[in-house]
Amino acid sequence: MDITSAATATASAAPSTAAPSTGSQAPSPLSLVLVVASDREGRFAPVITDWFRSRLDEREDFTVTVVDLAEIDLPTSLSHNPSPAVRSELAKVTPVLEAADAFVVVTPEYNHSFPASLKNLIDRHYTEWQAKPVGFVSYGGISGGLRAVEQLRQVFAEVHAVTVRDSVSFHSAWGLFDEDGRHKDPAGAEAAAKVLLDQLGWWGRALKDAKTIRPYGA
Ligand SMILES: Cc1cc2nc3c(=O)[nH]c(=O)nc-3n(C[C@H](O)[C@H](O)[C@H](O)COP(=O)(O)O)c2cc1C
Repeated sequence: MDITSAATATASAAPSTAAPSTGSQAPSPLSLVLVVASDREGRFAPVITDWFRSRLDEREDFTVTVVDLAEIDLPTSLSHNPSPAVRSELAKVTPVLEAADAFVVVTPEYNHSFPASLKNLIDRHYTEWQAKPVGFVSYGGISGGLRAVEQLRQVFAEVHAVTVRDSVSFHSAWGLFDEDGRHKDPAGAEAAAKVLLDQLGWWGRALKDAKTIRPYGA
């Protein structure tokens, strides 16, 4: 069983979070920010990201904004008084994170962890992550990025984000897609993406509604 199938299989044992059909008017879509973690030259990330965006195109419960870390130039040295250049880069991303209702992180695995570019983005923000759900689409060699995801769960807990249980993962990802970026056998991955997005939607809606009654931490 590949890891994509495993994600689907474990998802099937979890309680359903799909929105019930109430017949009432659908709520406005949640604002989902898709964070593309790899900024590596020659990266595989666009194939995975495009595939996941195709899954989001099927949904009406999310609007999507992409934060691609290859397009943001942030030094790893942190400062309380960032230079104008760093402020300018942060201005591209911080308001987007602030406005998000939910996140999906598309991450590879590097040396059993996630890329430094992603840690840098996380560490440069705090309230922007708070009381919001985070889902994961991971890829890599034999582990399918799952070790990176498990580490990210610890990191996101520290900034008061809520990680959703089910994820989508692709092991030996480069063999799963054809030269046009199409998944060769997509059923398992599509089912896993649906479970992930249903859980993200449930948490995103629940937390957004809760914050209208009581601001987080108040
Ligand atoms: C520095 C580095 C370390 C890696 N370490 C792992 C690893 O620990 N486990 C794994 O499954 N794949 C590992 N890989 C393979 C990557 O997950 C794979 O090349 C993936 O495509 C990288 O994503 P990207 O191409 O979008 O940057 C590593 C790749 C690099 C460049």
